[in-house]
Amino acid sequence: MASANENKTMKIINPTYIYLDNTFQENLAVAFNAEIQAIDTLENLQTQYPEASVEDQAENSVLYPGFINTHVHLEFSKNRTTLEYGSFMPWLDSVIKNREDLVSECDNEVMMEACKQMLNSGVTTFGAISSFGTELEVCTKTPQKVLFFNELIGSQAATADMLYGDFLERLNESKNCVDDGIIPAIAIHSPYSVHPIVTQRAIALAKQEELPLSAHFLESQAEREWLTKETGGFLNFFQNFFSTSKAVTTVEEFMHSLNQVPAHLTHAVQATTEELNFLNEKGHSIAHCPRSNRLLGCGRLAIETLIENNMPFTTATDGLSSNNTLSILDELRAALMLHHSVPIEELASVLIKSITSTPAEIFSLNSGIIEIGKDADFAFLTLPDKPSSLESIALHTILHTNKVDKVYISGNIVS
Ligand code: BEZ
Ligand code: FE2
Repeated sequence: MASANENKTMKIINPTYIYLDNTFQENLAVAFNAEIQAIDTLENLQTQYPEASVEDQAENSVLYPGFINTHVHLEFSKNRTTLEYGSFMPWLDSVIKNREDLVSECDNEVMMEACKQMLNSGVTTFGAISSFGTELEVCTKTPQKVLFFNELIGSQAATADMLYGDFLERLNESKNCVDDGIIPAIAIHSPYSVHPIVTQRAIALAKQEELPLSAHFLESQAEREWLTKETGGFLNFFQNFFSTSKAVTTVEEFMHSLNQVPAHLTHAVQATTEELNFLNEKGHSIAHCPRSNRLLGCGRLAIETLIENNMPFTTATDGLSSNNTLSILDELRAALMLHHSVPIEELASVLIKSITSTPAEIFSLNSGIIEIGKDADFAFLTLPDKPSSLESIALHTILHTNKVDKVYISGNIVS
């Protein structure tokens, strides 16, 4: 029996359809305060919680758990037309050329607008990859929960200690913001850009402190060529910037260094099936960023291989440095059009999972699923008309939703 206090703040939401256990059901409502308290018919919930307020209802509405965007770079939110798209190395050159201007022009207002764009698409938790820590304040102020991935970058042994010290300071600052919705985490920029000693230290720390870990991995053909043959576009790059023709690690070495702790690996477009299977066996997962991969000429991640092998993957927007919007629904639409070999309703269903229960499981979040005891984080949206079947709701959601109607985080309406 709920306490009087719980009854006071209790709300009931009664959608036409509710996303439960990766399927859609009718005639069910949810009672919640900060957490989900009960799932039952509206009548039963009103009997159980007579003082609960019943939220607005709309025809053809769908209640989802809040969406989770696992990979975004807020620090590059100022970019629209500055960076060069089409091929990875020219894009990277353009990032290096414009980075200072882009980052200095990216003030809190710009980053808050980026958070708002995610919120409008139903995102209640996101993973912010932070190179400098400049977005920490915005991440504490945005209503969303934030996996704050303090990033390590630097391939040169000479600067390793200094960069690691700076990383530890940023990590500590993020640890001070737990009460503001920050979940401190670690990101290794990539195998080619982080010295293996530093990679080892970061992994050991992630293991010891049970911090979420992520890394960009085998994003481009150039990265694969560099790590396997020390040739290709990165040869020029490393010769020019670091006077070296040697890669700091190999694909094998990097993958094995991850054995100790599960990592969320972003892109993996150029990983072989064997490599993906190895990573899957070791408990790792993939962040799939289809629009970023397309814009940077990196190719297509064969998600059908991941689906076949039950390898967990999330779908994520990446930053505005390699995307035109941060809407997670725009991202799912792109994925829906890209992966033409997967039957379309099955694909739509897997994609919804990739922004709800899958990321929640990967990062042990108390959300991503509508279940008693989970945080009352919801994305509430309305389809334009009655869906032809329950099985088609994921597909129609992805096709037709530009903006969700309402977003709840820990039971509060935030948009
Ligand atoms: C580095 O800092 O060593 C680095 C950064 C970007 C690409 C490659 C290397
Ligand atoms: Fe990224």
